[in-house]
Amino acid sequence: MSQTLPPVLALDGPSGAGKGTIGQLCAVKFGWHYLDSGAIYRGLGWLADSEGVSSNDVAGLVSLADSMSLVCHVCETDSATIEINGQMVTDQLRTDEAGQLASQIAPIPEVRAALLKMQQRCRKAPGLVADGRDMGTTVFPDAPFKVFLTASAEIRAQRRYDQLKAKGMSVNLARLLESIQARDVRDSSRDASPLKPAEDALVLDTSDLSIDEVVARILTLVN
Ligand code: DC
Repeated sequence: MSQTLPPVLALDGPSGAGKGTIGQLCAVKFGWHYLDSGAIYRGLGWLADSEGVSSNDVAGLVSLADSMSLVCHVCETDSATIEINGQMVTDQLRTDEAGQLASQIAPIPEVRAALLKMQQRCRKAPGLVADGRDMGTTVFPDAPFKVFLTASAEIRAQRRYDQLKAKGMSVNLARLLESIQARDVRDSSRDASPLKPAEDALVLDTSDLSIDEVVARILTLVN
């Protein structure tokens, strides 16, 4: 059955490993669609916060997830823009707090189940680059191309710091490192679809690789 479905490049890894930048570059190069699944979890966390739904209210979160509409516009030279229920929320979703909120609701199996179909519907011709934590293990287990990007926590914190700084946000490197380490533990130790490489994934440590080098390795894999 998978032969008739459009191809997927599943790009998984911890926060700050470069999935967003690399994923968007690959999507533009291949002319494929791009799914930022982290934006879906961040979007739901943000929506819950703005609607006063607590992160323990499973029924409330599922109901928000069922009615949420998310549109992601990709462009080669900048990060993707994200619209939720018609409202542009790109900057609100990129903050460290939004990442923490997302990571708190992401372990809830009912929330993951409610968001699964939304992600799978993004698999459209001519192909999809899907970035997240469980793209290769749960959402698209039959993806023909799977890459797990990683890097040391210190390097990932520095990259996130540079990114947020460049957007004019006020950030503290030591706090970002702590936040990344806390998120690594939470994302990897949860029972529902934990962060881990699929058995058939190519694992790439990007600590000492440039963006172009990582993209070149992925192009070799896909071609
Ligand atoms: O990739 P990101 O930093 O935008 O993701 C934010 C959080 O969302 C991450 O810490 C865990 C959760 N997430 C997830 O559980 N599964 C995904 N496929 C993507 C993100």
